[in-house]
Amino acid sequence: MLNETLIPKVGVITDIRIDTPDVKTFRVVGTDGKKLFEHIPGQCAMVSVPGVGEGMFSITSSPTNTEFMEFSIKRCGCLTTVLHALEEGQQITVRGPYGNGFPVEDPEKLKGKDLLFVAGGIGLAPLRSVINYVRDKRENYGKVQIVYGSRSKDDLVDYKEILDEWMATPDFDVYLTIDREQEGWDGHVGFVPNYVKELTPDLGKTVLMCGPPVMIKFTLAGLKELGFKETQVFTTMELRMKCAIGKCGRCNIGNKYVCKDGPVFSFDQLSELPSEY
Ligand SMILES: Cc1cc2nc3c(=O)[nH]c(=O)nc-3n(C[C@H](O)[C@H](O)[C@H](O)COP(=O)(O)OP(=O)(O)OC[C@H]3O[C@@H](n4cnc5c(N)ncnc54)[C@H](O)[C@@H]3O)c2cc1C
Ligand code: FES
Repeated sequence: MLNETLIPKVGVITDIRIDTPDVKTFRVVGTDGKKLFEHIPGQCAMVSVPGVGEGMFSITSSPTNTEFMEFSIKRCGCLTTVLHALEEGQQITVRGPYGNGFPVEDPEKLKGKDLLFVAGGIGLAPLRSVINYVRDKRENYGKVQIVYGSRSKDDLVDYKEILDEWMATPDFDVYLTIDREQEGWDGHVGFVPNYVKELTPDLGKTVLMCGPPVMIKFTLAGLKELGFKETQVFTTMELRMKCAIGKCGRCNIGNKYVCKDGPVFSFDQLSELPSEY
């Protein structure tokens, strides 16, 4: 049977937002002007520039957005440098969606629960999809706490959306932090794991986190010290991927393929973690 997700679809870039010195958010539609495909928050897609290469990126827009799809892309190598040089109107290809996504409709896990989002740097990209999903389906979820940190104020992705929209949403408490003091910043200074511990979140919350391995490692340890169980804490893993469909064996953790069984896992599902965690 034909696997639709394997077919690269031609996408047109209709908008490019410069988020930080090395992150841009690309808005993409099909050549017919419509959304390329549907997804679950936390799922990813393989984005390709023909002749250059392809890479996996989280779909950062919410599935509740019916018009387009967005990707927040950090410039770090060959493909992402070429992507950053593209302009509105230019074409890329996108195949997907891949992975399991966050269990947003599962009443045992997320639906109806109070939620704590913990993000570092570009790690906000997959969580933004869930956060905006929860905003659009507000009646289905409890109170929301978001702890988001980056190296500096200039490295906070989606800063305007956070200030104008998330902070204005009822029962949304947003806590921003940067690693070091900076002129023009009078908010919190310090690392994300410490900030989460300082806030002593209620033990009934479901936690969703994404960020650099070191942030995840220390945040998880802090949450466990506070009394959280591994079943309550979800993360999305970003291991190197090639095929995205569980065939090439590039992305396994123990007996799990991150591309197929993940990228979203609760920590009790991960019997072993890569050495950087
Ligand atoms: C499930 C998943 C979701 C992702 N979501 C996003 C996203 O939303 N936004 C985003 O900017 N990036 C995301 N990434 C990472 C992204 O795929 C890579 O940064 C990109 O493919 C690098 O391509 P490049 O050719 O520019 O860099 P390369 O030339 O391949 O590499 C440049 C540098 O980045 C490192 N690197 C490359 N890929 C990874 C990776 N997967 N993990 C850690 N280090 C890596 C390399 O070791 C090297 O140091 C995601 C990856 C996965 C697997
Ligand atoms: S990327 Fe090939 S098995 Fe996961």
